[in-house]
Amino acid sequence: MNNNGIHAVTGAFGYSGRYIATRLLEQGRTVVTLTNSVNRANPFGGRIRAAPLSFREPDKLAAALAGVEVLYNTYWVRFNHGNFTHGEAVRNTLVLFEAARRAGVRRVVHVSITNPSEDSPLEYFAGKARLERALREGGLSHAILRPTVLFGREDILINNIAWALRRFPFFAVFGDGSYRLQPIHVDDLAELAVAEGMRKENVIVNAIGPETFTYRELVKAVGDAIGQPRRLVNVPPGMGCLLGKLVGLFKHDVFITREEIRGLMSELLYVSTPPTGKTPLTAWMKKNAGTLGLRHASELDRRRDRQMPYFANEVRQGLKKQA
Ligand SMILES: NC(=O)c1ccc[n+]([C@@H]2O[C@H](COP(=O)([O-])OP(=O)(O)OC[C@H]3O[C@@H](n4cnc5c(N)ncnc54)[C@H](OP(=O)(O)O)[C@@H]3O)[C@@H](O)[C@H]2O)c1
Repeated sequence: MNNNGIHAVTGAFGYSGRYIATRLLEQGRTVVTLTNSVNRANPFGGRIRAAPLSFREPDKLAAALAGVEVLYNTYWVRFNHGNFTHGEAVRNTLVLFEAARRAGVRRVVHVSITNPSEDSPLEYFAGKARLERALREGGLSHAILRPTVLFGREDILINNIAWALRRFPFFAVFGDGSYRLQPIHVDDLAELAVAEGMRKENVIVNAIGPETFTYRELVKAVGDAIGQPRRLVNVPPGMGCLLGKLVGLFKHDVFITREEIRGLMSELLYVSTPPTGKTPLTAWMKKNAGTLGLRHASELDRRRDRQMPYFANEVRQGLKKQA
């Protein structure tokens, strides 16, 4: 492989893309990012050039990918919303793959999800399966990484469980809470992505952490880690969804969707393959108990404000240091 080739990462000022870009820079690679937020705070200074994810101008997208050796694709949308949909994300990603092919990109490392299926009634999982098929049929060398829930400083799901545990006297668990998940640290996913970028073979890898929790155990572990062991109350999924909607209204965000609850409860974030990540969530939470869930992490704020970094406290701390 050409060590001087450019590596393109989508969303390097966001969550997982940022960790992938950091690892590539540490290896001395030239990195560009394709992003919907070119003006978001750039933690890499001048070391990363940003180009827009111009899905409506495929020629521009192909031009931005000129000379790129490996494309690491994290682009996706979490749920259907007035301003964005899974269907649109599928169409956009197909444009991106075609642009990569035209630009002569050697390999695509694509971030998917555990248990994708085109037959799934859940658009998230069906859309991801459609994209995996496009890669398999498209002739580009590819690695497909299928993570479960990610955790890390910029995380939403586990952070917001902690946030709710800090604020409310009880926590509503959807159904009996016995469905399993295997969270993976975002930097373990990045390590896998960068390793796969260097290879040639077409592969599919489940990206799962070393610990398996039932949802109930996960909420309990979060509560224990932050010193807020709340009462866990089992509620029907419809009631859980309603409570989530109320919290979302209160925070001007989407806290959790009916689809996400269905995915969780159908164990779509669980697979039976060996772990590929090494960082235990419990150890990470112990280290980060002081900040975990201190603030609500808002998916919609990240889309409304395309300049603010995901982990806004970081900026405040930086400003404090400068003062
Ligand atoms: N986070 C998890 O727990 C988790 C779990 C399983 C699988 N995954 C998969 O991992 C990949 C990366 O997830 P992530 O959490 O690291 O995502 P992220 O950094 O928040 O976003 C990844 C990319 O998608 C873009 N994007 C996200 N939502 C968008 C929206 N509504 N409209 C337009 N662009 C949007 C971002 O835009 P900007 O360029 O503007 O930043 C960025 O380029 C995704 O494919 C996701 O399906 C994530």
